[in-house]
Amino acid sequence: MTVLVTGATGHTGRHVVRGLLDAGADVRVLVRDVAKAPADVEVVQGDIADLTKAAQGVDAVYLLWPSFDSEGIERALKPLEGKKIVYLSAMSADHGGVWGDVEKAVEKVTDDWTFLRVTGLATNTLGWMDQVNNGVVRGPYGQAKRSLVHERDVADMAVEALLENHSKQVYLVTGPEALTQAAQVKIIGDALGKPAVWEEQPIAEAKTQLSQQMGAEFATSALGYWASLVAEPEPVSLDVAQVTGHPARPFEEWAGEHFS
Ligand SMILES: NC(=O)c1ccc[n+]([C@@H]2O[C@H](COP(=O)([O-])OP(=O)(O)OC[C@H]3O[C@@H](n4cnc5c(N)ncnc54)[C@H](OP(=O)(O)O)[C@@H]3O)[C@@H](O)[C@H]2O)c1
Repeated sequence: MTVLVTGATGHTGRHVVRGLLDAGADVRVLVRDVAKAPADVEVVQGDIADLTKAAQGVDAVYLLWPSFDSEGIERALKPLEGKKIVYLSAMSADHGGVWGDVEKAVEKVTDDWTFLRVTGLATNTLGWMDQVNNGVVRGPYGQAKRSLVHERDVADMAVEALLENHSKQVYLVTGPEALTQAAQVKIIGDALGKPAVWEEQPIAEAKTQLSQQMGAEFATSALGYWASLVAEPEPVSLDVAQVTGHPARPFEEWAGEHFS
């Protein structure tokens, strides 16, 4: 079986590659910069917008769509017609947005799809690195509770879905508990051996900052979502345990690996 891995240099993709190789699959990666490609795989250089060459002859694809908008998705997915697609989606896909659009586009090109809907990746908190080192992380909604998931759990789910039959399954992929952002900062500080605390950032300031990073529309929706998580935490799902056979890795474990 030959599997194409997109995003192979990224947080989840690099573990997907490793898991597939360990399972004896042939792996092809699509990378923009061949110098960054992982070892022991076939490498195709290119952009996700044109999968024609990368998709030739592969049976299955680990797909992520590394953009905050879905423009061009239908054209991009055309070469994946009829192939198995395991797509790294988001819990919010039911409400449309980029992840909903990509899921719909995937369903148009194949019947053999699996959607891994993540609440949030623990790697999002890597953006706090400098602030944690200075002892204070500033952001909106410190009491928002998130069930952030370790990227290796996402990859374990993906490898299982790519190699076995999980056709038309929608999995909710989460960590084992929902933690406030303030608690996450404390855990990261403990892992680093440097105490760190959360400092609440005024919403208007956060909105300006986020709009610059991800566009105004996405920033507004992200802020609304985080606000909602103060009253109603992100769910915790058992899908990682059920699909992979091991429980989801705790945030403490993730922080110990990335911040120590
Ligand atoms: N963050 C969250 O909480 C969250 C929640 C739900 C879903 N997601 C999904 O997760 C995805 C990120 O997954 P990740 O963390 O594994 O990846 P990541 O670490 O963010 O890395 C992105 C990967 O995509 C590649 N890439 C970026 N633009 C590309 C392009 N135009 N053509 C080809 N490759 C391109 C990058 O390659 P280079 O090395 O060339 O940069 C890299 O391998 C997001 O796109 C999002 O849709 C994230």
